[in-house]
Amino acid sequence: MKIDPWSSTTYQDYTKLRDEFGIEEFTENLWKNLPHPHKLLRRGVVFGHRDFQIIQEAALKKKPWVILTGLMPSGKMHLGHKMVIDEVIYYQSIGADVFIAVADIEAFAIREHTLEETMDFALNEYIPNYIALGLKPEKCRIYFQSKNEDVKDLAYILGKKINWSQMQATYGFNGTNNMTHILSPLIQTGDILHVQLEKYGGIRPTLVPVGVDQDPHIRLSRDIAEAHRLYNVTVTKDNKIGVFVKVDENVNNLLDHAEKILHSLNYTKLKRITGYKAIYIDEAKKGDIQKIDEQLAKTEPKLGGYGFLQPSATFHRFMTGLTGEKMSSSKPETAIFLTDSPKITIKKIMDAKTGGAVSLEVQKKEGGKPDECVVYELFLYHLIEDDKELQDIYLSCKNGEKMCGNCKKYASQLMEKLITDLQEKRKTAERKIKQYLS
Ligand code: TRP
Ligand code: SF4
Repeated sequence: MKIDPWSSTTYQDYTKLRDEFGIEEFTENLWKNLPHPHKLLRRGVVFGHRDFQIIQEAALKKKPWVILTGLMPSGKMHLGHKMVIDEVIYYQSIGADVFIAVADIEAFAIREHTLEETMDFALNEYIPNYIALGLKPEKCRIYFQSKNEDVKDLAYILGKKINWSQMQATYGFNGTNNMTHILSPLIQTGDILHVQLEKYGGIRPTLVPVGVDQDPHIRLSRDIAEAHRLYNVTVTKDNKIGVFVKVDENVNNLLDHAEKILHSLNYTKLKRITGYKAIYIDEAKKGDIQKIDEQLAKTEPKLGGYGFLQPSATFHRFMTGLTGEKMSSSKPETAIFLTDSPKITIKKIMDAKTGGAVSLEVQKKEGGKPDECVVYELFLYHLIEDDKELQDIYLSCKNGEKMCGNCKKYASQLMEKLITDLQEKRKTAERKIKQYLS
């Protein structure tokens, strides 16, 4: 199996995907002690992660960290797009710096949109909605890939450590793909890593919340970050912690420098083995690796390197389209758009595919199937904050007390409120856009 970020596949079996690609399970202990954990974290919508524990620690200790996501605007913003921004807004509220990339180069490469059209979608549709949803301008930057020189520079500079065979293996590229498309994963790597350049806040943990289709980009960015490090901290064969210099130039200077850093971290029992380009730390433990690595990484830019920490990622499930197929901007009947009128919204919900039984009688007897119901998904992802209320709906559906007609009516009421509230907030959003753009 291969994950293809540009196909129209919907990935259904999340557990299998997770295990196959070495994504970790997003367990309760990762979010439980965060401030007011978001419903998407609590409810298993975020089902997997890579290195989220680093983000958790930064958030809890109030150390600097950053969240970055990207959007490929194509027409209208729907509830699936809202979900990612809800996550971003939550992380912003618990202290993250925010960067949002408008992926106009990628959209140009793989869709029929000019850079100008994409800019139009972003400015008139997506960004006003982000603001209406509650994104704050403080410590928040929205930028366009095609206008960010640092991102584009990184794309070709970092690309030096990745070869064509790896790109083919990761993305299934072949002779028919256009060159802009082939470049776009490197641009995305530029997006993900540029936030750790000095100018954008420096070396710090980065979280990229994405759908699982984006995992190839996550893996590429992590590999590239690692490939550009000057130091590597690891457990040696004889179970010691060692700092290794990864490059062949300037080795002695780099070892001197590492020694200084280790002293500043209060390690004294150091053994330098120049032949291995290594320093062994007698008194360090496995749990110290991350701390040592971060300290070294932070100084790498001064030594001619980048020091990029490997980005962390979370993976979320996708909402099902209202009709049961994939939710898509190009099929209005599958999605509720944030700019839909209340009337249209209600009609879409009334026509939605539920987990109801063939008849009322059967449903009373055998119950409904909330797990296969898109109306229930609306409650779960967007409409109901209180976990107890959500659980009550789930149970009363399952045991046949709740009928779809009433249930849809309730969903419509809540959705109408959400939609009109956004409508109201968008009115003032347009004026504020400038505060968000870099
Ligand atoms: N490729 C993403 C998409 O298809 C958009 C994107 C661009 C992105 N740059 C990013 C996502 C950086 C996360 C991080 O939607
Ligand atoms: Fe879905 Fe509600 Fe019907 Fe249950 S009662 S199947 S949750 S619409």
